[in-house]
Amino acid sequence: MSEVYDQLNELIPEFNEIQDEQLREKTIAAWVDGLQRGGWTPQQLTKFPFSLLIEGLEISFLEHIRATAKMSASIHDTLKEHYGDKLSLNRDYLIAGALLADVGKLMEYQPDDVKGARKAEHGNYLRHPFSSVGLGWVQGLPDEVLHIAAVHSKEGKEFRRSPEAIIFHHADFVDFQIFGGGY
Ligand SMILES: [Fe+2]
Repeated sequence: MSEVYDQLNELIPEFNEIQDEQLREKTIAAWVDGLQRGGWTPQQLTKFPFSLLIEGLEISFLEHIRATAKMSASIHDTLKEHYGDKLSLNRDYLIAGALLADVGKLMEYQPDDVKGARKAEHGNYLRHPFSSVGLGWVQGLPDEVLHIAAVHSKEGKEFRRSPEAIIFHHADFVDFQIFGGGY
């Protein structure tokens, strides 16, 4: 495995929550690819702020990724504890989707020495849910996982979300709105 792969695993240990090895490898590969296409080093990734829209926010993009993946897992586990077989949920798809959903931000934004990140040319045409699907598609991630990335944000409002996509969408918005994010 590459050095970037190892560094990513260290920065986002939640990849290891994905039990299926192939699914885990493909999800990490989407990140390796995203870093390369967007021109990011793992070191620059640590300086990427969570949001450029919320002034004065000192939360990093990586903290957001990790917190929302963990929240998704917790919501899954709580629901399964209470409803058991009455509810069909795929934990691996959920975590993979949670970790895929924002990888497209590596293409929507580019590294910036001062602010950590700034809008990239690509981002003028495609918001990250689309780029995330593209990066996941290249790796052959299943539709159930691509779906979570595709509909996680406002673009998915009109589309019927899967149970896993509902969980991630809400976890994501808890993390966004609790720090003052809108819509
Ligand atoms: Fe997102």
